[in-house]
Amino acid sequence: MKFRSLASIALGAALTLSMAACGGSGAGSGDDAESVPAGDAESITIGVAMPTQTSERWIADGQAVKEGLEALGYTVDLQFANDDIPTQTQQIDQMITQGEKLLIIASIDGTALTSQLEAAAAAGIKVIAYDRLIRNSANVDFYVTFDNYKVGVAQANSLLYGLKLTDKEGKPAADAPAGPFNIELFAGSADDNNATFFFNGAMDTLQPYIDAGTLQVKSGQTDFATCAIMRWSQEGAQTRMENLLTSTYGGNGEGLAGVLSPFDGISRGIITALQGVGLGPNLAQGLPVVTGQDAEIASVKLINDDVQFSTVFKDTRKLADQAVIAAQAYLEDKQPTANDTETYENGVKVVPSYLLEVDTVNKEDITPLLVESGYYTAAQVEAGQ
Ligand code: BGC
Repeated sequence: MKFRSLASIALGAALTLSMAACGGSGAGSGDDAESVPAGDAESITIGVAMPTQTSERWIADGQAVKEGLEALGYTVDLQFANDDIPTQTQQIDQMITQGEKLLIIASIDGTALTSQLEAAAAAGIKVIAYDRLIRNSANVDFYVTFDNYKVGVAQANSLLYGLKLTDKEGKPAADAPAGPFNIELFAGSADDNNATFFFNGAMDTLQPYIDAGTLQVKSGQTDFATCAIMRWSQEGAQTRMENLLTSTYGGNGEGLAGVLSPFDGISRGIITALQGVGLGPNLAQGLPVVTGQDAEIASVKLINDDVQFSTVFKDTRKLADQAVIAAQAYLEDKQPTANDTETYENGVKVVPSYLLEVDTVNKEDITPLLVESGYYTAAQVEAGQ
């Protein structure tokens, strides 16, 4: 297991959970939590539906949720759906018919699960949306995620920092270059509610610079739909970047200073396209500034090698802990504690949410944030796997 040992996961979950039971911070109920007697817990199966194993973050998420729940004695049915919507709906249908007591779901298409959730509600099964909001359903009980708008703000701030327009904290740089800088924009999968939040957070941050003429989106492609990459595909991103290089940058990338990217897989597709026309190969040799998200190990290595500029680190261990805390609250007939009851309107209702903070990672942050916290070893960063 890449991220941390089983024993430390179990210990981490147990610690966080006991903190929550003592009224510590987290999505747990504020009441004194009585734990479910061990014998009872084992007979309770919890369905965990994750979107795909093609991106390592979801493997880590799935594993961490499973191990956290198992540490409390529950039985876990963990399923991955290869980014295929019918596979995911089928998996969830099956979890319901098998009598699983609670569902934790990271959806592929946030709008595709309405009938599954109706069946879950009819069977008295609570549903926790994991990382991605499930839309168009009254039957999403709780949502655990990161502050998705702030993720977009962090990505845009990092782009501004990479172009030396601001300092690392986002304050205008005293000796900021006048520009104008040419940039291009990428967004995530349009069927993922998060993608809009990321893009809006980023655009609200970049727009003043675009209005002032300091930044120019030379292709003119600034609307979400045009910038969106279906299923967050690396290949899709590479193709779009290649097309932009041909249509707008003379085929050799001349004059392109930076690219807003919402996900490390997309970032790697973009970087491949940029290097493919002779840019770089690294930042010091003229590779445009490219942002990212998820601190995927392949991108962490690229950051360490001065190729990708940054990523946004979402500590999946913390998110998994929150999902486990919320699940335990429901299984004890309690209400998980939300820290946001306004933001996540899913088309039918506002879903009570527990939001976590994120960190931006540049090269100098790899050791303190990723290695010292035990997320990766130094050897993994070196090897990129
Ligand atoms: C997640 C991101 C991830 C993306 C692609 C989004 O829903 O919030 O962390 O980069 O999906 O997997």
